[in-house]
Amino acid sequence: MKRLSLRSATVICLSWALAISTQLALGAGEKWTAPARAAAKKNPISADAASIARGKASFMAECMSCHGPTGRGDGPAAAGLEKHPGDLSKRLPDSDGALFWKITNGKSPMVAATKLSEEERWCVINYLRTLAR
Ligand code: HEC
Repeated sequence: MKRLSLRSATVICLSWALAISTQLALGAGEKWTAPARAAAKKNPISADAASIARGKASFMAECMSCHGPTGRGDGPAAAGLEKHPGDLSKRLPDSDGALFWKITNGKSPMVAATKLSEEERWCVINYLRTLAR
């Protein structure tokens, strides 16, 4: 009886390790896509001048170091990252909901925007839309 439970414990451990490593392997180099439910979420903050100004202030404080002042990926910390932050001044194909999910969760080396409130994150998105050329 004791031997059996030890064996099943080993099996559980092995399948857990396998599940984790599969997840890691799939995550590496994969396209960054928000879950459909998150992407469908609507931006509750209208993109008026006040919200854009607020979003710009948050962007300068929390995002500029990597993304650069106009979102082109030329911030002072960008060169040291293992992955280029990309160009946010190109039209972003994502919905506001998908951007919200990405900013909220981050993806290494991008950090999650834990210092920004939900409202501030929506304002940052309103600001990001103004960067599109
Ligand atoms: C530590 C550096 C760093 C900081 C700080 C940072 N980012 Fe990023 N960001 C990145 C990198 C690197 C990528 C590219 C990630 C990838 O494609 O895997 C990225 C990607 C993005 C993308 C594009 C996602 C896509 O679909 O390609 C958006 C939008 C974005 N960041 C917004 C923000 C916002 C808004 C902030 C501030 C709240 C922020 N980032 C802070 C490094 C950073």
